[in-house]
Amino acid sequence: MIKMIMHGCNGHMGQTITKLAKEDSAIEIVAGVDSYTGVTNEYPVFESIETCDVQADVVVDFSNAGAVDGLLEYCEKKGIPVVLCTTGLSDGQLEMVQKTSKNVAILRSANMSLGINMLLKLLKEAAGILAPAGFDIELVERHHNQKLDAPSGTALALADSVNEALDNAYTYVYDRSKVRQKRDKKEIGISAVRGGTIVGDHEVIFAGADEVVEFKHTAYSKAVFGKGALEAAKFLAGKQPGLYDMSDVIQF
Ligand SMILES: NC(=O)c1ccc[n+]([C@@H]2O[C@H](COP(=O)([O-])OP(=O)(O)OC[C@H]3O[C@@H](n4cnc5c(N)ncnc54)[C@H](O)[C@@H]3O)[C@@H](O)[C@H]2O)c1
Repeated sequence: MIKMIMHGCNGHMGQTITKLAKEDSAIEIVAGVDSYTGVTNEYPVFESIETCDVQADVVVDFSNAGAVDGLLEYCEKKGIPVVLCTTGLSDGQLEMVQKTSKNVAILRSANMSLGINMLLKLLKEAAGILAPAGFDIELVERHHNQKLDAPSGTALALADSVNEALDNAYTYVYDRSKVRQKRDKKEIGISAVRGGTIVGDHEVIFAGADEVVEFKHTAYSKAVFGKGALEAAKFLAGKQPGLYDMSDVIQF
């Protein structure tokens, strides 16, 4: 049985994973970490990762970008692999992830769902065909009104996947209100909608002359991310140092 620490255990994702892990005989949450203490759990909860003294095989993180630096230091010091799911990390933090992964296994993914990870792969093929044919590329994401970061980490991952297939020649445009000019061919427009309880919608639009191709993914519940995170935790426990992603877990 794999022993797991749930970092951010009292948040929406932490509680979703707590329920899923109870039904999974291959993994057990042995401790949780959360600065908010208003939830009762069946495992011990620590207010910060530094004070957690429970032995574990892996940490799963769904917390807050501000909590990630301390988490990386802890996992490096203790040699515990970490599945990093928190989004909105700064460039400096992404560098720290790279550096830390030389000493401990890290799996980072902005979206743990099977559908989005398949889309990341399909988009490369679509972009390689449609962009040279003159199609413009736009991305629209929609999330609930409690989300702090924008655009979503998933939207950026989708844009990066398209851009990689196009030799990273495209720039991202988030706001057209400040300039009065036509869009550049080599840009990907990214728009964020926030409202209600939308779990997560992502649409990638390839708009050509007289035809439009759209790829759309809708998450109906947070369980899709939770299931993926538990599969990632099982995969990562015991792995050698390195930077992994969901394509290592899901075999297409
Ligand atoms: N990768 C994915 O597939 C995926 C899916 C959903 C959400 N997310 C991301 O995961 C993160 C959490 O999402 P959520 O919906 O559960 O948010 P949430 O706000 O409901 O939960 C976050 C929890 O982290 C706790 N926290 C904050 N600072 C902390 C600290 N320093 N130490 C310990 N705990 C701390 C908060 O108290 C809260 O309980 C967000 O960044 C979100 O964008 C990623």
